[in-house]
Amino acid sequence: MDVLKAIKNRYSCRAYKAEPVPEEKLKKVLEAARLAPSPHNEQAWKFVVVRDAEKRKKLAEAAMGQEFVGEAPVVIVAVALEPEEVMSTGVPNYAVGLAIAVDHMTLAAVEEGLGTCWIGAFSQNEVKEILKIPERYKIVVLLPLGFPADKPKPKSRKNLEEIVCDENFSD
Ligand SMILES: Cc1cc2nc3c(=O)[nH]c(=O)nc-3n(C[C@H](O)[C@H](O)[C@H](O)COP(=O)(O)O)c2cc1C
Repeated sequence: MDVLKAIKNRYSCRAYKAEPVPEEKLKKVLEAARLAPSPHNEQAWKFVVVRDAEKRKKLAEAAMGQEFVGEAPVVIVAVALEPEEVMSTGVPNYAVGLAIAVDHMTLAAVEEGLGTCWIGAFSQNEVKEILKIPERYKIVVLLPLGFPADKPKPKSRKNLEEIVCDENFSD
Protein backbone atom coordinates (compact mmCIF):
# COMPACT_ATOMS: atom_id res chain seq x y z
CA MET A 1 0.00 0.00 0.00
CA ASP A 2 1.34 3.47 -0.75
CA VAL A 3 1.72 5.86 2.16
CA LEU A 4 -0.84 8.41 1.00
CA LYS A 5 -3.42 5.66 0.62
CA ALA A 6 -2.74 4.50 4.19
CA ILE A 7 -3.04 8.13 5.39
CA LYS A 8 -6.37 8.51 3.58
CA ASN A 9 -7.69 5.19 4.91
CA ARG A 10 -6.74 5.82 8.55
CA TYR A 11 -9.59 7.07 10.68
CA SER A 12 -10.47 7.13 14.36
CA CYS A 13 -12.01 3.71 14.88
CA ARG A 14 -14.43 3.75 17.82
CA ALA A 15 -15.87 0.21 17.61
CA TYR A 16 -13.85 -3.01 17.55
CA LYS A 17 -14.52 -6.68 16.96
CA ALA A 18 -13.66 -8.96 19.89
CA GLU A 19 -11.44 -11.01 17.53
CA PRO A 20 -7.85 -11.03 18.84
CA VAL A 21 -5.07 -9.25 16.98
CA PRO A 22 -2.67 -11.85 15.50
CA GLU A 23 0.77 -11.51 17.09
CA GLU A 24 2.38 -11.11 13.67
CA LYS A 25 0.23 -8.06 12.90
CA LEU A 26 0.84 -6.58 16.34
CA LYS A 27 4.57 -7.01 15.86
CA LYS A 28 4.46 -5.14 12.54
CA VAL A 29 2.61 -2.26 14.18
CA LEU A 30 5.15 -2.09 17.02
CA GLU A 31 8.02 -2.33 14.53
CA ALA A 32 6.69 0.83 12.86
CA ALA A 33 7.09 2.65 16.18
CA ARG A 34 10.55 1.21 16.73
CA LEU A 35 11.74 2.62 13.39
CA ALA A 36 10.36 6.12 14.01
CA PRO A 37 12.73 9.10 14.24
CA SER A 38 13.26 10.83 17.58
CA PRO A 39 15.28 13.82 18.84
CA HIS A 40 18.99 12.76 18.97
CA ASN A 41 17.70 9.27 18.15
CA GLU A 42 17.18 8.86 21.90
CA GLN A 43 14.13 6.62 21.50
CA ALA A 44 13.16 7.60 25.02
CA TRP A 45 9.93 5.69 24.96
CA LYS A 46 8.19 2.49 26.02
CA PHE A 47 5.06 0.98 24.55
CA VAL A 48 3.02 -1.04 27.02
CA VAL A 49 0.90 -3.66 25.24
CA VAL A 50 -2.25 -4.36 27.23
CA ARG A 51 -4.30 -7.44 26.33
CA ASP A 52 -5.77 -8.29 29.74
CA ALA A 53 -9.54 -7.63 29.63
CA GLU A 54 -9.79 -6.36 33.20
CA LYS A 55 -6.95 -3.90 32.69
CA ARG A 56 -8.46 -2.70 29.40
CA LYS A 57 -11.74 -2.03 31.18
CA LYS A 58 -9.89 0.00 33.81
CA LEU A 59 -8.06 1.92 31.08
CA ALA A 60 -11.41 2.78 29.47
CA GLU A 61 -12.65 4.10 32.82
CA ALA A 62 -9.45 6.13 33.19
CA ALA A 63 -10.08 7.46 29.66
CA MET A 64 -13.13 9.41 30.80
CA GLY A 65 -15.32 6.33 30.35
CA GLN A 66 -14.69 5.96 26.61
CA GLU A 67 -15.91 2.35 26.58
CA PHE A 68 -14.66 1.45 23.11
CA VAL A 69 -11.10 1.77 24.43
CA GLY A 70 -11.64 -1.32 26.57
CA GLU A 71 -13.48 -3.17 23.81
CA ALA A 72 -10.44 -3.20 21.54
CA PRO A 73 -8.54 -6.47 22.10
CA VAL A 74 -5.25 -4.57 22.50
CA VAL A 75 -4.44 -1.15 23.93
CA ILE A 76 -0.95 0.19 23.31
CA VAL A 77 0.07 2.77 25.90
CA ALA A 78 2.83 5.12 24.73
CA VAL A 79 5.07 6.35 27.54
CA ALA A 80 7.72 9.10 27.38
CA LEU A 81 10.79 8.35 29.51
CA GLU A 82 12.32 11.86 29.34
CA PRO A 83 9.35 14.19 29.65
CA GLU A 84 11.43 17.12 30.94
CA GLU A 85 13.65 17.50 27.86
CA VAL A 86 12.97 20.56 25.74
CA MET A 87 14.56 21.35 22.36
CA SER A 88 16.33 24.70 21.78
CA THR A 89 13.12 25.84 20.08
CA GLY A 90 11.23 25.48 23.35
CA VAL A 91 9.27 22.54 21.98
CA PRO A 92 9.17 19.45 24.24
CA ASN A 93 11.06 16.49 22.74
CA TYR A 94 8.74 13.86 24.04
CA ALA A 95 5.54 15.18 22.51
CA VAL A 96 7.09 15.37 19.05
CA GLY A 97 8.89 12.02 19.21
CA LEU A 98 5.97 10.07 20.62
CA ALA A 99 3.52 11.67 18.18
CA ILE A 100 5.61 10.47 15.25
CA ALA A 101 6.06 6.96 16.66
CA VAL A 102 2.37 6.58 17.39
CA ASP A 103 1.38 7.95 14.00
CA HIS A 104 3.67 5.37 12.39
CA MET A 105 1.71 2.73 14.29
CA THR A 106 -1.65 4.07 13.14
CA LEU A 107 -0.53 3.86 9.50
CA ALA A 108 1.06 0.42 9.87
CA ALA A 109 -2.21 -0.73 11.43
CA VAL A 110 -4.11 0.37 8.30
CA GLU A 111 -1.79 -1.78 6.21
CA GLU A 112 -2.64 -4.73 8.49
CA GLY A 113 -6.40 -4.14 8.20
CA LEU A 114 -6.54 -2.92 11.80
CA GLY A 115 -8.19 0.13 13.31
CA THR A 116 -6.80 2.54 15.90
CA CYS A 117 -7.88 5.72 17.66
CA TRP A 118 -5.67 8.29 19.33
CA ILE A 119 -6.86 8.64 22.91
CA GLY A 120 -5.57 11.82 24.47
CA ALA A 121 -8.32 12.20 27.06
CA PHE A 122 -7.35 10.11 30.09
CA SER A 123 -6.17 10.51 33.65
CA GLN A 124 -2.37 10.42 33.77
CA ASN A 125 -2.41 9.28 37.41
CA GLU A 126 -5.02 6.56 36.98
CA VAL A 127 -3.31 4.99 33.95
CA LYS A 128 0.05 5.11 35.78
CA GLU A 129 -1.50 3.26 38.69
CA ILE A 130 -3.20 0.62 36.51
CA LEU A 131 -0.01 -0.18 34.57
CA LYS A 132 2.55 0.45 37.34
CA ILE A 133 4.21 3.26 35.38
CA PRO A 134 6.66 5.31 37.51
CA GLU A 135 5.55 8.83 38.43
CA ARG A 136 8.53 10.47 36.61
CA TYR A 137 7.37 9.31 33.17
CA LYS A 138 4.60 10.82 31.05
CA ILE A 139 1.91 8.88 29.22
CA VAL A 140 1.24 10.49 25.86
CA VAL A 141 -1.47 8.41 24.29
CA LEU A 142 -3.57 5.27 24.64
CA LEU A 143 -3.96 3.52 21.31
CA PRO A 144 -6.72 0.91 21.06
CA LEU A 145 -5.96 -1.58 18.30
CA GLY A 146 -8.20 -4.20 16.71
CA PHE A 147 -10.29 -5.17 13.74
CA PRO A 148 -12.77 -2.37 13.03
CA ALA A 149 -16.46 -2.90 13.71
CA ASP A 150 -17.40 0.53 12.35
CA LYS A 151 -16.90 2.38 9.09
CA PRO A 152 -14.95 5.58 8.39
CA LYS A 153 -16.90 8.81 7.99
CA PRO A 154 -15.93 11.30 5.27
CA LYS A 155 -12.92 13.32 6.43
CA SER A 156 -13.63 16.85 7.58
CA ARG A 157 -10.51 18.90 6.92
CA LYS A 158 -9.57 22.48 6.04
CA ASN A 159 -8.59 23.16 2.44
CA LEU A 160 -4.89 23.38 1.60
CA GLU A 161 -5.33 27.11 0.81
CA GLU A 162 -6.41 27.70 4.42
CA ILE A 163 -3.37 26.06 5.98
CA VAL A 164 -0.51 26.69 3.54
CA CYS A 165 1.17 30.11 3.10
CA ASP A 166 3.53 31.14 0.31
CA GLU A 167 6.91 32.47 1.41
CA ASN A 168 5.65 34.47 4.44
CA PHE A 169 3.23 33.67 7.18
CA SER A 170 -0.23 35.11 6.79
CA ASP A 171 -3.30 34.73 8.99
C1 LIG B 1 -3.75 14.07 20.28
C2 LIG B 1 -5.10 13.51 19.94
C3 LIG B 1 -5.98 13.18 20.97
C4 LIG B 1 -7.22 12.58 20.67
N1 LIG B 1 -8.02 12.16 21.70
C5 LIG B 1 -9.17 11.49 21.41
C6 LIG B 1 -9.95 10.91 22.45
O1 LIG B 1 -9.63 10.97 23.64
N2 LIG B 1 -11.07 10.25 22.10
C7 LIG B 1 -11.47 10.10 20.80
O2 LIG B 1 -12.50 9.46 20.56
N3 LIG B 1 -10.74 10.63 19.80
C8 LIG B 1 -9.60 11.30 20.06
N4 LIG B 1 -8.83 11.79 19.04
C9 LIG B 1 -9.25 11.60 17.64
C10 LIG B 1 -9.71 12.88 16.95
O3 LIG B 1 -10.97 13.26 17.43
C11 LIG B 1 -9.74 12.61 15.44
O4 LIG B 1 -8.43 12.29 14.99
C12 LIG B 1 -10.26 13.77 14.62
O5 LIG B 1 -11.59 14.06 14.94
C13 LIG B 1 -10.18 13.49 13.11
O6 LIG B 1 -10.90 12.31 12.78
P1 LIG B 1 -10.17 11.06 12.08
O7 LIG B 1 -9.04 10.60 12.98
O8 LIG B 1 -11.24 10.02 11.95
O9 LIG B 1 -9.64 11.49 10.74
C14 LIG B 1 -7.61 12.39 19.31
C15 LIG B 1 -6.72 12.74 18.29
C16 LIG B 1 -5.48 13.27 18.60
C17 LIG B 1 -4.53 13.58 17.47
